Amino acid sequence: MERFYITTPIYYVNAKPHLGHAYTTIIADTMKRFQQMMGKETFFLTGTDEHGDKIVQAAEKNKCTPQEYVDQISQLFKDLWPELGICNDHFIRTTDSAHKKVVQDVLQKVYDSGDIYFGEYGGHYCYGCERFYTEKELEDGLCPQHQTKPEYIAEKNYFFKMSKYQEWLKQHILDNPEFIRPERYRKEVLSLLDSGELEDLCISRPKSRLEWGVELPFDNNFVTYVWFDALLNYVSALDYPEGENFKKFWPGVQHIVAKDILKPHAIFWPTMLKAAGFEPYNNLNVHGYWLVNDTKMSKSLGNVVAPLDMAKKYGNDTFRFFLLRDMHFGNDASFSEEALAMRQNAELANDLGNLFSRVLSMVKKYFGGVVPQPAEYTEADMELRELASNSCKNFQQLFDNVRFSYGIESLWELVRALNKYVDSSQPWTLAKEGDTARLGTVMYTMLECMRKVAIHLWPVMPKSAEKLVAQLGVEFDPVKANLPAEVEAWGTLPVGIEIAPGSNLFPRIDIDKLRKEIEEATKAAAAAAKKAAAPVQEAAAPIEFDDFTKVDLRVGKVLVVEDHPKADRLFRCEVDLGEEKPRQILAGLKEHFTAEDLLGRQVVVVANLKPRKIRGLESHGMMLALKTADGMEMLTASGEVPAGTKAS
Ligand code: MSP
Repeated sequence: MERFYITTPIYYVNAKPHLGHAYTTIIADTMKRFQQMMGKETFFLTGTDEHGDKIVQAAEKNKCTPQEYVDQISQLFKDLWPELGICNDHFIRTTDSAHKKVVQDVLQKVYDSGDIYFGEYGGHYCYGCERFYTEKELEDGLCPQHQTKPEYIAEKNYFFKMSKYQEWLKQHILDNPEFIRPERYRKEVLSLLDSGELEDLCISRPKSRLEWGVELPFDNNFVTYVWFDALLNYVSALDYPEGENFKKFWPGVQHIVAKDILKPHAIFWPTMLKAAGFEPYNNLNVHGYWLVNDTKMSKSLGNVVAPLDMAKKYGNDTFRFFLLRDMHFGNDASFSEEALAMRQNAELANDLGNLFSRVLSMVKKYFGGVVPQPAEYTEADMELRELASNSCKNFQQLFDNVRFSYGIESLWELVRALNKYVDSSQPWTLAKEGDTARLGTVMYTMLECMRKVAIHLWPVMPKSAEKLVAQLGVEFDPVKANLPAEVEAWGTLPVGIEIAPGSNLFPRIDIDKLRKEIEEATKAAAAAAKKAAAPVQEAAAPIEFDDFTKVDLRVGKVLVVEDHPKADRLFRCEVDLGEEKPRQILAGLKEHFTAEDLLGRQVVVVANLKPRKIRGLESHGMMLALKTADGMEMLTASGEVPAGTKAS
């Protein structure tokens, strides 16, 4: 039996699942179901990526330990998938001990083979991406993903000799045109490989900076870089090296990712596999981004779509159908509830639901609800049969090549042709004329085509497809359904069985009403965002005027910003307050600012705060900052004023 292994990225647990995560996982689920129907033995993996800086920061924000935090958020992902009708075979967490062991084993193997070395590196580190950027990769000095300023970090670390495999990788991509698809991403990777020598990959983080990770097996002062850890989930989940699943499913794997993580999957991962002695994966399938109102989803814009809200309101199947239908795999697409409702009305309620309820009620009326015997087929019938055969064939080829929207379109060509066929063959006239033989043929032709449509829809809309097949009165076991045979098969629907008509499965949505609802919800969200932007902070207890005058606030200029040698969260700053010597002030601003952000800035300082020692260094004064909904802003003077200017 042919085997099929499909994976999603393992999602970071620093945020709740949203539309983007749901999309990738729904695609993987659809692919699994489709390949099951194509007769393959399947394995579908998803999970969560739980190590690294980001997670530690998120846990701190939530005032819990990293372990407590990852347990909580990982569970949200794990619980969401069944609610969206997703049937993954395994859910992996990078904190699983079996996974950690695989990471260590592979590291040791690559280290022993001489492809990991110790060296020093300085680079622009983005905490959001958990990776270093080269000067060239930054856009106006900012991280291209997060538009934030990365921090320049120089430290000793372990490196993986990625550059050694550059030529091999290039050749492999050239020899295997489907290795990375669609083509635009393959080209992007090839041009990256052509643009110069790959840098070796820094695969460790010193424990002095980060402890939350898998310890290097050959140096316990370091933990593994999250990507080297995370990518290995694809083999650890199969119980590499001895597991049955590993023997069965590797290397025939298809990875699904979005364009944001193309480089780790197209460059780090295959070179890691090569160095560790694995066969490369089969395909990397790269999709675009879902945008909302043409912008990236973001918490601060308040436009993050919660998948469960949509699925609860419209049903899992409509939600899945919309996502697969409206995004051309590889390109970005815009999500809107209105577009979803319009798809439901046009393609599900009008085209599909209506076809079923119309035809089934005719069978009920003209044949007492029993599938009639077809007589002789006419040219029009044969044309329709031919179209049905082509639709099935195209659908299968397109789904095999992750071109879901086109695949659905080819099925809808058949649905639309069936609707036309009802009108042109005029069953009501045949009934009136008493031409039962012809009427039976027309009805049977339609029912058999509808059966084909319904079973092909199962990977996309499992529950609805099952209901549609049940309405046709047949038993349906998707795993036993032989999809490839459906291209040629005719006459599978047994004559004489009883159909079970029901109402239109897809109700029409009142678009005007929905628009009003959305308008109101948008207004409410904007008002809530405004409120959140100026967080209500508890007023402090009143003080006497004399107390206030005791506070000496002065404008200063930041001359030096360095890391506090013993306290991870503190900067050691030197601030010019117009005095003989700059003041040393220790500031806990690292979470929100980089050294470059602060250097040279005018700040407002509480100048007469008594000096105090923090971890061995004296701090004399305090720089003031404003807490905002998004983080922090430094308090400053609106124009340039001499250092030491007093506020009053
Ligand atoms: N943890 C890494 C992946 C490691 S895999 C070995 C990671 N996690 S993530 O939580 O940021 O997930 C990124 C993935 O989520 C994308 O590649 C994509 O699959 C999905 N999406 C997140 N936002 C998306 C959109 N707006 N649109 C479509 N999918 C997106 O990166």
